[in-house]
Amino acid sequence: MLMRNFIERERLVSAPNYHPLPVVLTRGKGVWLWDIQGNKYLDMITAYSAVSFGHGHPRLMKALTDQMEKVSILSRAFYTDQLAPMLEKVCALSGLEMGIPMNSGAEAVETAIKAARRWGYEVKGIPAGQAEIIVADNNFHGRTTTIISFSTLDEYRQDFGPFTPGFKSIPFGDARAFESAITPQTCAFLVEPIQGEAGIIVPPEGWLKEIRRICTEHNVLLILDEVQSGLGRSGKMFAFQYEDIVPDGLILGKALGGGLLPISLFLSRREVLSLMTPGSHGSTFGGNPLACAVAYEALCLLEEEHLDQRSAELGAYMTKRLQALNSPLIKEVRGKGLWIGLEFNENLIMAWDVCLRMLSKGVLMKDTHEKIVRFAPPLIITREEIDFVLKAFEEVMHELEKEHIV
Ligand SMILES: Cc1ncc(COP(=O)(O)O)c(C=O)c1O
Repeated sequence: MLMRNFIERERLVSAPNYHPLPVVLTRGKGVWLWDIQGNKYLDMITAYSAVSFGHGHPRLMKALTDQMEKVSILSRAFYTDQLAPMLEKVCALSGLEMGIPMNSGAEAVETAIKAARRWGYEVKGIPAGQAEIIVADNNFHGRTTTIISFSTLDEYRQDFGPFTPGFKSIPFGDARAFESAITPQTCAFLVEPIQGEAGIIVPPEGWLKEIRRICTEHNVLLILDEVQSGLGRSGKMFAFQYEDIVPDGLILGKALGGGLLPISLFLSRREVLSLMTPGSHGSTFGGNPLACAVAYEALCLLEEEHLDQRSAELGAYMTKRLQALNSPLIKEVRGKGLWIGLEFNENLIMAWDVCLRMLSKGVLMKDTHEKIVRFAPPLIITREEIDFVLKAFEEVMHELEKEHIV
């Protein structure tokens, strides 16, 4: 079968809103993916952290098929025996009290915005229609029209206005700027504890603790978007645990679906979420028993197999090895856990070119913002598999160093 055939057909019928690597995949198992010609690749993208358990994890596949044989989709017109156990589990892990299940990460962010505004009006007493939410520059929270309204990047916004008002952006990692931006109309600070799509930007140590203090002092909800950083990716179950705080709201998605299906959540305190009334919010597929059964099993798996610790240990190993490359092409290697961003020096090489060369060596990875590549393998990866990736990357760096004569 010709790869070109599928690529050309896809280009004809699929809108060009992505820029895929030129490979046609057909099968996956664990950390590996196969193309239609039988070539094997190690997955360092994991659908942007959605496949943290690897492809087709046997325990998750069993939870999926067992539930599928019982019932899959019911809507929230009824109670089910799957929603409460999953929410109880994630509340116990996160320290929050209630949740609203949705499907995509962006929908869970929308849910957080609505819940925060309602709390702002009904509890904080903000005058109707004036609630403000503070966000951070270079944020990425999804692509709905409201969410892109507070993006600070043109590529996400161009030609999609008019935009939703009620948001104010401040520099990421700057607690003073955050405190100065608060007004009596501020209901929430919505922020990623580590910025993922921006290139795995880790804020200064102590920032989150300080933000927590400021939010409490000013009666502002601290809502953390851990759609990408959560569920072990950063080396802790949740990235906020690095600073020993609990947010007022937490957004989860991606890995919650075990790499098998979409499910997302907005979790919060009872004071916030008990304000939601029938009809105020929902989604046909949100909280379906199939997704809940898989999410429950995914949470158990994470906890029982200590995948967060594995992420911390193997992430530290990989980061150290990448930093030791000491290539003049590399500006910085940063990250937490198995979530590493590697930034190249300006104007020397394009991250896309690096990804193409890695593809030819059997490693799938993706660029972000032209100069950055990300390493985000399944958390079940072994040290030997990491060494395979490191060897390929080292070879690519040597090739490029020679070509650029640095
Ligand atoms: C932090 C964060 N929030 C929200 C989203 C949006 O999730 P989805 O693509 O499932 O809508 C993403 C996606 O990358 C994300 O990284």
